[in-house]
Amino acid sequence: MKTIIEPFRIKSVEYVKTTTEPEREEILRKAFYNMFLIRAEDVLIDLLTDSGTSAMSSKQWAAMLDGDESYAGSKSYFHFEEVTQKIFGFRHIIPVHQGRAAERILFTFLLSDIDEDGRFNNAGKGKSIPSNNHFDTTRANIEFNGAEAVDLVIDEGKQPELIHPFKGNLDTKKLEKFIHEKGVKNIPVCMLTITNNTGGGQPVSMQNIREVSAICKKHGIPFFLDACRFAENAYFIKIREKGYEKKTILEICKEMFSYADGCTMSAKKDAFANIGGFIAMNNEDWYQNCKSLLIITEGYETYGGLAGRDMDAIAQGLEEIIDENYLHYRIHSNKYLGDKLEANGIPFLKPAGGHAIYLDAKNFLPHIPPDQFPGQALSVELYRKGGIRAVEIGSVMFGKYDEKGKLIPADMELVRLAIPRRVYTQSHIDYVAEVLIDMSRNKDKIRGIKIIEEPKFLRHFTAKFDLI
Ligand SMILES: Cc1ncc(COP(=O)(O)O)c(C=O)c1O
Repeated sequence: MKTIIEPFRIKSVEYVKTTTEPEREEILRKAFYNMFLIRAEDVLIDLLTDSGTSAMSSKQWAAMLDGDESYAGSKSYFHFEEVTQKIFGFRHIIPVHQGRAAERILFTFLLSDIDEDGRFNNAGKGKSIPSNNHFDTTRANIEFNGAEAVDLVIDEGKQPELIHPFKGNLDTKKLEKFIHEKGVKNIPVCMLTITNNTGGGQPVSMQNIREVSAICKKHGIPFFLDACRFAENAYFIKIREKGYEKKTILEICKEMFSYADGCTMSAKKDAFANIGGFIAMNNEDWYQNCKSLLIITEGYETYGGLAGRDMDAIAQGLEEIIDENYLHYRIHSNKYLGDKLEANGIPFLKPAGGHAIYLDAKNFLPHIPPDQFPGQALSVELYRKGGIRAVEIGSVMFGKYDEKGKLIPADMELVRLAIPRRVYTQSHIDYVAEVLIDMSRNKDKIRGIKIIEEPKFLRHFTAKFDLI
């Protein structure tokens, strides 16, 4: 059959509130035009993130009831460890409350000198951590430790209109050059984000993972995967990379992780969980050090800031995400939205990403210059027109200032329509497309945005804006 249906049926529903345009106008004003400052109940369709927003399955809810809340050695931890080891293959699994906790622990350890009393003294200055693209929290955790986060994605990955099967690939020539210039001793780890969230949810090929791993091995640099959307990446490898058509998703996952020394994971994405994450690795010494930091700040090693029931939900979610039938539906339902936008001339980053469609605001609103944040302006308009919440991934999130305070814009001005897993139906998506098509008729009237207040790190979460 041609129609791809949701491979689940709905057992419990959550009503959504409809608001009028004048009401949303007022809500926007009170929220200083920042999508993160709007109350979720005032949103009709929430595409702010796919993180922690999945609908859990009945099996996950059942597993939660069976959660073991013992402080040490809980059954839930061993269930979680068994499933994560089966898929990811690493010896040591450290649970944490979410992805950024994994990043904080890993980078604090890697960017510190540890004295004889076991204290961690920050030594991040002068160090660099390359990746295809770091996501915002990854970048912030590196920079907060005094080091530099460097993006080395292939040039094709920065051209929204260009079609390429693996736009998330890291440019291996740039990596070799970077290692040569910086020196191995200043690069404590190399990361690769699968799929590449900042770069449009685009996948990384197995060949690229293999090549980056070989370069790192040659130079003795540890290699970690940011694995938040590992299963979506594995599915892209299956359908786009020669030689993987007949492999199971589990086989592809095992091969991807076999090239790495470890990974960080936010279970809020490809584990269908509302909270949770982990750090996984093989190195015993690293494990002991990360564990020390974990126990000081997150919790004991068999729960790491999670309830036992959360670890059961993650374990069950991981079993469900590697189902090829589900991934087929997931990737094709994102493409469905992309195809509708394409047919109506609405520019977005192509091809459609694994977890989201990324609108190309630079192209959609050419009359708004980067220092008036076209992505933020587009997000505001989407909410005003249709009650749809999205997130800017452009110069608000990744722009920097030069020494004179002038904005250095991000490579792309994107607006991410992240699709929560198993939450919205086809008619919700049809509505999103309809709002965008309607908006495009009067897009010349959309106004730019200015920042009126901002924090030093991760400004997009709390900055205040106003219309120009
Ligand atoms: C690629 C990537 N890495 C890390 C994170 C951080 O995960 P968390 O939100 O669970 O802290 C995210 C979250 O969106 C992400 O997309």
